[in-house]
Amino acid sequence: MHLSCYTGAQTKLLETPLTIPARIAGLGKYLPERVVTNFDLEKMVETSDAWIRDRTGVRERHVAADDETASTMAVLAARQALAQAEVDPMELDLIIGATTSPDGMFPAIASLVQHGLGARRAAAFDINAACVGFLTAFATASQFILSGTYQRVLVVGSEVLSRIVDWSDRGTCVLFGDGAGAVVLEAAKRGEPFSFVFHSDGGGADKLFAHGPCSQPGEADPGCYFIQMDGPHIFKFAVQAMEQATREAVQAAGLTVDDIDLLIPHQANLRIIDATAKRLGLPPERCMTNVDRYGNTSSASIPLALREAWEQGRLHEGDRVVFVAFGGGLVWGALLLEWAPVGPVPAAAREAARVTGGGS
Ligand code: ACO
Repeated sequence: MHLSCYTGAQTKLLETPLTIPARIAGLGKYLPERVVTNFDLEKMVETSDAWIRDRTGVRERHVAADDETASTMAVLAARQALAQAEVDPMELDLIIGATTSPDGMFPAIASLVQHGLGARRAAAFDINAACVGFLTAFATASQFILSGTYQRVLVVGSEVLSRIVDWSDRGTCVLFGDGAGAVVLEAAKRGEPFSFVFHSDGGGADKLFAHGPCSQPGEADPGCYFIQMDGPHIFKFAVQAMEQATREAVQAAGLTVDDIDLLIPHQANLRIIDATAKRLGLPPERCMTNVDRYGNTSSASIPLALREAWEQGRLHEGDRVVFVAFGGGLVWGALLLEWAPVGPVPAAAREAARVTGGGS
């Protein structure tokens, strides 16, 4: 079983295959209670449920309450993942947060999650790679485990994009939603096929971005913090980038696209997902989608979709699963792993999830 990686077009594949002794031990998700439907948006901007469903596949999205932030939602998703993994917070060595909508410029949401969980032994930091943030954090965590530095790592993607969406702009407000997803990664007794690829093109930074308080003067007033994008440009880029990254990840693992049992793509737009799957020759039953209920939740989208794929019984021991994403940067990447079974969700965690809207 091999670990292969490369991080750019010019970087050569690693010559020496390595074994990665890491597996997902627990999965968690959290969704805010408030649901905003397309019909709600019809009352806010000049749009229609039919247009939104036809052009994006989104029917509704969750929106955080005033007292919720990326870190508070991350804690709830993390608790569920830890319960399933039967890992006590004190056993965590590291927490990596992935977000583009943190509680503040600093500290990292990972530090707030560490405190919220009482994971006092754990180191903590965040990664911002826009919608590729969770994948990047997951790959980083796996490297700490592979090197023997850490045994148990919590990776959590959490977003309150509703706070950086211009709710008067119909071109963007229909697309995004809030939520959090988490995984516990553990050193495993045996390795699984594993590969990842990452790419970046900073020349496309102006096609998808949100300014912040440290942007140049004139760009730093709150009205400029909203997500801005060239939708049609991003659409074309996304389809091409997700196909390329998927093909590279399977090739790096010594496999072919036919070996993919389940593709879990970033949930940005159903048309982007369908076009990517079509170019790869993957039928709908081998491609996970839940964008209809959540919209684009950036760093949270893949762990949310992964958790739901598991809930739906779509993950079996030995399945080759590929995560693939694109986002502002521009950045794109894919990660392949072989599925190892996770334990049942303890009844107490199921109840907590039901109360907090986190699903079964
Ligand atoms: N309701 C009704 N009409 C709309 C809406 C809306 N919500 N939004 C746009 N329109 C109109 C436009 O004004 C335009 O009208 P015109 O022809 O009179 O000028 C028409 O619909 C077509 O607009 P397009 O932008 O060409 O529509 P398109 O089919 O490209 O769909 C969309 C737009 C959905 C944004 C698509 O381009 C897309 O999904 N792009 C990718 C977005 C994405 O994935 N972004 C990632 C962000 S992730 C991150 O990093 C946070």
